[in-house]
Amino acid sequence: MHLFKNIILTKKQYSLLRNAVVPRQSVFKDESKLDINYIPQKLPHREAQQRLLMEFFNFILRCPEKMAQRVILTGDVGTGKTALAQHFGAEISSEANKRSIKFRYVHVNCREFRGALSPILHRAVTAFRPNYPARGYGAEEILGSLMQVLDEENAHMILTLDEFDSLIEKEGSDAVYKLTRLQEMRQGKPQRLSFIFIMRDLKAIEPLDESAKSTLQRSIIRLERYGKPQLVDILNDRVAMAFELGAVPEDVVDLISELAYTETGNARFGIELLWRAGKYADASDAGSVEAECVRNAVSAIVPSLRRSELASLGLHQKLFLLAVARYFKENKDAYASMGEVEKAYAVVCEEYEETPNSHTQLYNYVQYLSKLGVIKAEIGTAETRGRTNRISLPTIPAVELEREMSESLKQEKSGAA
Ligand SMILES: Nc1ncnc2c1ncn2[C@@H]1O[C@H](COP(=O)(O)OP(=O)(O)OP(=O)(O)O)[C@@H](O)[C@H]1O
Ligand SMILES: [Mg+2]
Repeated sequence: MHLFKNIILTKKQYSLLRNAVVPRQSVFKDESKLDINYIPQKLPHREAQQRLLMEFFNFILRCPEKMAQRVILTGDVGTGKTALAQHFGAEISSEANKRSIKFRYVHVNCREFRGALSPILHRAVTAFRPNYPARGYGAEEILGSLMQVLDEENAHMILTLDEFDSLIEKEGSDAVYKLTRLQEMRQGKPQRLSFIFIMRDLKAIEPLDESAKSTLQRSIIRLERYGKPQLVDILNDRVAMAFELGAVPEDVVDLISELAYTETGNARFGIELLWRAGKYADASDAGSVEAECVRNAVSAIVPSLRRSELASLGLHQKLFLLAVARYFKENKDAYASMGEVEKAYAVVCEEYEETPNSHTQLYNYVQYLSKLGVIKAEIGTAETRGRTNRISLPTIPAVELEREMSESLKQEKSGAA
């Protein structure tokens, strides 16, 4: 007893000792289950689409050489397209494996390669030939190699092209034609390669020429936005996996689901909120996720400016947003005309040494970015030059958007170097 009586601890020592004796209880049990790349074993409310995918592709398990298939998977942001495809890929791979069928599911996010066909195809070849050289071959050659490798291995593949719109934007009809007409050029040979094309909006294929378009429009699976009760189910599953028992009260799950529902039924937004709210709970030592933690999380995310969303924007979409931010930083007006923003965009392009995109393309960006909720666009009255767009920035401070975009572009530029 005497030994301890006269020991005076510094504040730091005291807190170290206290934490060692009474470990602070985190609300999380396994945070990784809320990671954006985590694919859960069950996808509630997507069972029907899962079965449909299996229907479309089950020939691979029965008579893989006889056919090939192309399926389009479409739906708004956060409706589970990527998760569904990857989940299905794992399932069919394991079924093929059980039947000793040589099969690979390869999932490529086209945006990761800025829509360039060669590196996308390269990824597919490396599923069998990990040392296939990354440079020096054109798309057509790599495609030839892919078919040759599949023949040599007597194997079959589903190649999923996620965010397919970026490939269309970059490579156009030619590439789509090459991919989809492949089998016809191999008359009499076994079929080996099927595709899943993922895009948010079917409008993405509109710029393609008729024949390329017609090779795509066969089987379309549409993922509708989640309703609130569905989001409750999805989030409840994650709560059970990621949090300590009782750490997230029922009405808090309800609140988050409500918020995700108003955010276009976006499950990703719900999961991100859940994670952040948990972080706030831990930071304030609350012991459980309270509604106030959710409110803190919401205001921190700034609804329309989410990093996961921004990261997936294309180079010129970012340049365009930076121009919008600069315009509103320098002008007090609440609205900008398309022409004004276009001018600002040209200046930004010059600064980043990029050739500006066409007016039509910028018009597409306006529509896309307003769909994401980052900017707001209105078709104004017809003026001298047809449609005029009034553009505004409703929820994000221009200064913040400028900072985010500059940082993101800096990363993109240094990544490309
Ligand atoms: N039915 C579901 N059950 C469980 N988790 C889901 C479900 N749907 C979506 N998710 C989860 O929500 C998040 C967003 O889903 P996903 O990435 O598949 O959306 P997406 O449709 O590909 O969106 P984007 O168009 O932005 O790429 C992921 O973390 C995913 O695991
Ligand atoms: Mg996705």
